Amino acid sequence: MLKLLCLLLPLVAVSASPIDLGSQKDYLVLDLPGLSHLSETQRPTMHAGLLPLNLSFVADDDTEYFFWRFSKQDVDRADIVFWLNGGPGCSSMDGALMELGPFVINPKQEVEYNEGTWVEAADVVFVDQPGGTGFSSTTNYLTELTEVADGFVTFLARYFHLFPADVYKKFTLGGESYAGQYVPYILKAIMDDLKSDSGQLPKELYLKGALIGNGWIDPNEQSLSYLEFFIKKELIDIHGSYMPGLLQQQEKCQNLINHSSGEASESQISYSACEKILNDALRFTRDKKAPLDQQCINMYDYTLRDTYPSCGMSWPPYLPDVTAFLQKKSVLEALHLDSSASWSECSARVGSHLKNKISVPSVDILPDLLQEIPIILFNGDHDIICNCIGTERMIDKLEFNGDQGFTEGTEYIPWFYNEVNVGKVISERNLTYVRVYNSSHMVPFDNTPVSRGLLDIYFDNFEDVEYNNVSGIATPVYDVDKNITYIDSNDPRLQNGPKSSSTDDSAAHGNPFFYYVFELFVIVLLLCGLVYLYQYYSNSAPHSILADKHKKKSKNKSKNVRFLDDLESNLDLDNTDDKKDNSVMSKLLSSMGYQAQEPYKPLDKGANADLDIEMDSHGTSEK
Ligand SMILES: *[C@@H]1O[C@H](CO)[C@@H](O)[C@H](O)[C@H]1NC(C)=O
Ligand SMILES: *[C@@H]1O[C@H](CO)[C@@H](O)[C@H](O)[C@H]1NC(C)=O
Ligand SMILES: *[C@@H]1O[C@H](CO)[C@@H](O)[C@H](O)[C@H]1NC(C)=O
Ligand SMILES: *[C@@H]1O[C@H](CO)[C@@H](O)[C@H](O)[C@H]1NC(C)=O
Ligand SMILES: *[C@@H]1O[C@H](CO)[C@@H](O)[C@H](O)[C@H]1NC(C)=O
Ligand SMILES: *[C@@H]1O[C@H](CO)[C@@H](O)[C@H](O)[C@H]1NC(C)=O
Repeated sequence: MLKLLCLLLPLVAVSASPIDLGSQKDYLVLDLPGLSHLSETQRPTMHAGLLPLNLSFVADDDTEYFFWRFSKQDVDRADIVFWLNGGPGCSSMDGALMELGPFVINPKQEVEYNEGTWVEAADVVFVDQPGGTGFSSTTNYLTELTEVADGFVTFLARYFHLFPADVYKKFTLGGESYAGQYVPYILKAIMDDLKSDSGQLPKELYLKGALIGNGWIDPNEQSLSYLEFFIKKELIDIHGSYMPGLLQQQEKCQNLINHSSGEASESQISYSACEKILNDALRFTRDKKAPLDQQCINMYDYTLRDTYPSCGMSWPPYLPDVTAFLQKKSVLEALHLDSSASWSECSARVGSHLKNKISVPSVDILPDLLQEIPIILFNGDHDIICNCIGTERMIDKLEFNGDQGFTEGTEYIPWFYNEVNVGKVISERNLTYVRVYNSSHMVPFDNTPVSRGLLDIYFDNFEDVEYNNVSGIATPVYDVDKNITYIDSNDPRLQNGPKSSSTDDSAAHGNPFFYYVFELFVIVLLLCGLVYLYQYYSNSAPHSILADKHKKKSKNKSKNVRFLDDLESNLDLDNTDDKKDNSVMSKLLSSMGYQAQEPYKPLDKGANADLDIEMDSHGTSEK
């Protein structure tokens, strides 16, 4: 018996800790350029470094994930948020140093306090993943989202081994953009692991929920939203000669989606024809007479412009300082990284390996998740690439917890931040959606304090208010001393356990007439626009798609030749039957009403990378 025990004990020890991770203090971050200029209360407790994963499904795995953990000194928050940026292949240092982390990087490449950081409200851990992203290294690039999810579960197992106290904080996964794929996949993998007898994660782990900002969740619905968004925001001229081409592309995408068995697609998650709509529409926003840095619309914030063909790639503007900061020897040393470590915001290799030949879009996973946890989706309304029209359409069609979309009677209610109406919120059956006004693809970048208000809504840490006879919710919540209140581990609100949905109550007493009227106005406007569009194109039928088809060869020999050649071949493919062309416009209209669909690609910077390459082939001649 004793012999058996002696044999078993080392085995148990090995399985609990397969890899020597050292101890927590080996990961302490003690200094950073500029840190000494911050006040004591602004200086967070930090841990950072690489964790070897030794993934069980990869032979001789050398993957190491980089994490950077922040918590408020001498404060015990009840919650821990793991944050992932998108891509695929974009580093979560974007989140840490440009969005919701405790620092921003100034032009001297030193840290400055980021007013509004989420670290005031919760511990936050930024993770570069999958391998090859940011500081995380690997020679085994993952090819499926299911692998990415399993990889993250292994990372978490290692992490909790190093930070055992964090197991007892409420676990939230947050992310942005392509993390709209990562987050649901990872949540599913965590749930499965916790239910499994042979799981890697500690069973005490309490999975609280998720927040996804400007998520790339339903590539189908979302890629079909571009044209409508460009038209609604008047970013392109509906009388432009490019319009028939764009409509054609839209139809091609809709066709692919309708007959998803059709054209062989490399990925389950993307159709290149759908992807093309955004690239093309952006190209048509180009104004060659404008200053160089104002030539086309920024795809992450339509109120901004950028150089062509970047169209947003050079944004956010602090990227060069962040990059220089993360390349400083002193910073690498402080973060426990090798002096040869190199960082770039986005890795194209990660995206090119993540082909997702099997993985389905994460929208298919959401309903299962919503049965078990609350999820907040939020959307900055200035974003194009993951715009709010697409997200809202996706929700309208989503079947979850016994119904489709938000049911009648569930209304948007206004959200006030310090008495300013910063967005509107709707919530039902564990799904909360927030449209955030005047915000880009990276909501926390535009306004970090307001973005922390999203976390407050998620934490139930808001007040019901009425301003100008409009009732809504307000964040942050102040105490008698006018200090902002946060949820500590001993907060009485936690005694009742987590609530299934943070705003259900407020939603019930919401429904302000003003907002109803506003929505109605928008719908009427949109309908008028569509009717006008329809009339315009049906009246000018001879000039539209069919006619252009025959003209194109002679007409466009200039710089866009390649693009139009593509279009032409599309036309030839699609329009063998001439009668079909008469219905193109009405089909477009119905497709703008959004029908079925299938996928497109990444966003954030991953689509960027693609876009860049693709647009470069047209744009380089300009240089
Ligand atoms: C990595 O995992 C394998 C089994 O999957 C194991 O044999 C090996 O010892 C592990 N490596 C380290 C360094 O723990
Ligand atoms: C796609 O299918 C919907 C019905 O599901 C239909 O209304 C629409 O016209 C179709 N679009 C195209 C381009 O075939
Ligand atoms: C919402 O999630 C909770 C867990 O937080 C779960 O118990 C509940 O059943 C879910 N609600 C619905 C309507 O499914
Ligand atoms: C923010 O958005 C709202 C609603 O879209 C608008 O009324 C308001 O003028 C905007 N504020 C700023 C500062 O742009
Ligand atoms: C609010 O409603 C009350 C009663 O309906 C009305 O007297 C008052 O003028 C309203 N205030 C505003 C700002 O609309
Ligand atoms: C409010 O903030 C002030 C200044 O930071 C601090 O001295 C005071 O203790 C705070 N009050 C409460 C109730 O936390």
